[in-house]
Amino acid sequence: MSSAPPSPAFSGSVPELIQKKRGGGTHSRAELDALILGYTRGEVPDYQVAAWLMAVCWRGMTPQETGDLTLSMAASGDLLDLSSLPHTVDKHSTGGVGDKTSLVLTPMLSALGLTVAKMSGRGLAHTGGTIDKLESIPGWHAELSDQAFLRQAREVGLALVGQSKNLAPADGLLYALRDVTATVDCLPLIASSIMSKKLASGAQTIVLDVKVGAGAFMKTLDDGQALAQAMVEIGRHAGRNMRAVLTDMDAPLGYMAGNSLEVQEALATLHGGGPDDLRELCVALAAEALSAAGMPNNAEERARVSLQDGSALGKFRAFVAAQGGDPEYVDAPQRLDVAPGRAELLAPRAGFLEGLDALSVGRSVLLLGGGRERKGEAIDHGVGVELLLKPGERVAAGQAAARLYHRGGRGLERALELLGAGLRIGDTQPQVPPLILGRVGEG
Ligand code: URA
Repeated sequence: MSSAPPSPAFSGSVPELIQKKRGGGTHSRAELDALILGYTRGEVPDYQVAAWLMAVCWRGMTPQETGDLTLSMAASGDLLDLSSLPHTVDKHSTGGVGDKTSLVLTPMLSALGLTVAKMSGRGLAHTGGTIDKLESIPGWHAELSDQAFLRQAREVGLALVGQSKNLAPADGLLYALRDVTATVDCLPLIASSIMSKKLASGAQTIVLDVKVGAGAFMKTLDDGQALAQAMVEIGRHAGRNMRAVLTDMDAPLGYMAGNSLEVQEALATLHGGGPDDLRELCVALAAEALSAAGMPNNAEERARVSLQDGSALGKFRAFVAAQGGDPEYVDAPQRLDVAPGRAELLAPRAGFLEGLDALSVGRSVLLLGGGRERKGEAIDHGVGVELLLKPGERVAAGQAAARLYHRGGRGLERALELLGAGLRIGDTQPQVPPLILGRVGEG
């Protein structure tokens, strides 16, 4: 791993930089390095950076500037060096409830000849994390030394670890400041925040899943498209192969939310079954990754075959075993620990399911004990929510719309209430948007 470069040469003052941006000026890389690296070292105070952030929100940034800002942020901490590995690929999702895509997609990519050496997060609040999901498999662990991480990536083609490195620390500091200065909602700042961590993670090809809809950060297709375009441009500015897919996030992906339940659903997909939406998204993302990495021939067909011929499943089995997990669970996912209690959310009236709010589903899992409010809290991998209907389907009064897997306790009642409040039933069949809303970065 390498770390941040030495201090850049910039002889001006921070107020000058704030004034420049306030007046609609354009920063150089050296200016951005002075501000961002100075802030990370504690030499530039919060109040100056807060003023600058607000000026960025008002005046915006050019694509070149946004790219340079992202490079400065990436350079504020460790930079993973994956250059010894062939065809490295990383995937990022802007966040979704029940999003187990990484569990299916990463072994597919590996089976297709790409190398996945990836740092993944744990869940916080209503969002799940890939590492928590994988820890539902007895014995599997997320800690590997740098050497073991690279060796496994080379030998197996897939290694996933927790975030032990100090990746883009400037982003953590800036995000906390944005959160309290009404500057979160600003395109160049969002795009640079997400991409700084991806660039520091070192992969040559990056494929992005930009979620759009009520349950997502980007509520409209136009906003999603603008964010995807900005992130693709940032990655290319840094010399990476980039693609983005825009996907609907009005409803949770698949049917399951909760750690063991999501692993079971991901394994069903790797065994050649699973829900249509999850499979189609993974095929689309894998095909984009192959094309971006310079292997476009029959990309979609090859991606699909990797799920049918057992090659992605084989990669997942080898990966689980390499990180201490019991591979028997890969072939017998029904043995994973699932909470024994069952409760059902009944539809209060007949009609058509318009939606089951993804945020309510995520928060219900949290209330059942399947997520954490604070970093470091223990979680119950066995609890969760199964959706029994998808938007657009007809529902009878009193029909079960969702099933909760629980171990009793006060959280259950509140989870049922919350899920009930998120259930929307209408009189006419709603227009259900397609899962894949668009692609950015082709050609
Ligand atoms: N996710 C991030 O990592 N950063 C943002 O600014 C928004 C979403």
